[in-house]
Amino acid sequence: MEGVIIRLTEEKDIHEMAELDKICFRVPWSEVSFASEIKENERALYVTAEADGKVVGYAGMWVIFDEGHITNVAVHPDFRGRHLGRKIVEFLIAEGEKRGVSSQTLEVRPSNAAALALYRGEGFCEEGRRKGYYEDNGEDAIIMWRRITER
Ligand SMILES: CC(C)(COP(=O)(O)OP(=O)(O)OC[C@H]1O[C@@H](n2cnc3c(N)ncnc32)[C@H](O)[C@@H]1OP(=O)(O)O)[C@@H](O)C(=O)NCCC(=O)NCCS
Repeated sequence: MEGVIIRLTEEKDIHEMAELDKICFRVPWSEVSFASEIKENERALYVTAEADGKVVGYAGMWVIFDEGHITNVAVHPDFRGRHLGRKIVEFLIAEGEKRGVSSQTLEVRPSNAAALALYRGEGFCEEGRRKGYYEDNGEDAIIMWRRITER
């Protein structure tokens, strides 16, 4: 997308990531959670989308040996529907691959049509469900994996 840069997350992004989370999620992560992820968690890999110097999207992954556990993907509402989410996920996967990640997994709400479309398009397949996983409304989680053999 023109004018949008995707890059590795930096400490200066933490405040804006937490603000973006408030817009994007029913149960947002706090600034303290983002700070501990980005400053202290050696397994955490985060990428940021920036437009005009502002954070407009991000995604994260925990690198656990050759598995990448995707924590969150978010795009500011003004920037949705233009394949920015897809580009952020592709950038995250590529950065994970540089660190030895060969398969990726995540949980997603069955009601989240946009996220499901994004992940299916990136080669993620449903492999199971966690019953009542989401505490805010008791919704199940769909467990998806993207494995090297499927590419
Ligand atoms: C999910 C999210 C990151 C998608 O970001 P986005 O930049 O709008 O996504 P993209 O434009 O890259 O779209 C990806 C695919 O989803 C499809 N899609 C986008 N919005 C959709 C919607 N509301 N319903 C159905 N499909 C949708 C697109 O058509 C696209 O598929 P295509 O390539 O086959 O055309 C964004 O909606 C968001 O931040 N949501 C709130 C946070 C969230 O739920 N994150 C995921 C948690 S698991």
